[in-house]
Amino acid sequence: MKEMTQKALNEAFAGESMAHMRYQHFADKAEAEGLGDMARMFRAISFAERVHAGNHLDVLGGIKSTSDNIQTCIDGETFEIVEMYPVYNATAKLQDEDGAVRSTHYALEAEKIHADWYIKAREAVEKGQDVAVGTIQICSVCGHTREGDAPDKCPICGASKDKFRQF
Ligand SMILES: [Fe+2]
Ligand SMILES: [Fe+2]
Repeated sequence: MKEMTQKALNEAFAGESMAHMRYQHFADKAEAEGLGDMARMFRAISFAERVHAGNHLDVLGGIKSTSDNIQTCIDGETFEIVEMYPVYNATAKLQDEDGAVRSTHYALEAEKIHADWYIKAREAVEKGQDVAVGTIQICSVCGHTREGDAPDKCPICGASKDKFRQF
């Protein structure tokens, strides 16, 4: 692909991805405010942004075989664990930004588990098998990721069992 088009599409992918995410959270907020139809509008338009992001990603050649996709995930999560979040967390600490210290800590802790899971998943998929994973629990406060039953208390943020979402 020509360089300028590729750069433009990468930016469009990033922008649509962020809009998709923002609208999801705006929908939750609208719902909490009792604005059900506004929440629905946010969710619908969020889905359209997901479609746009997916189209850009596809044209960029960013959706490959699952084996290759898992490698992309391992690379991304590893970068976040080894460089990105430790540096972001240190910066936030240096600047006494407590919210950012917390949010980067939560992400860093979860990414460690994500990288580990993806590495195991790669082994299975490369052998032509599906990944052997049971029920997955995600903490809706900090993103802590685990297999099996939800814990009584999140080991990372202390949230109660009912805050876990099952997949
Ligand atoms: Fe992650
Ligand atoms: Fe948590």
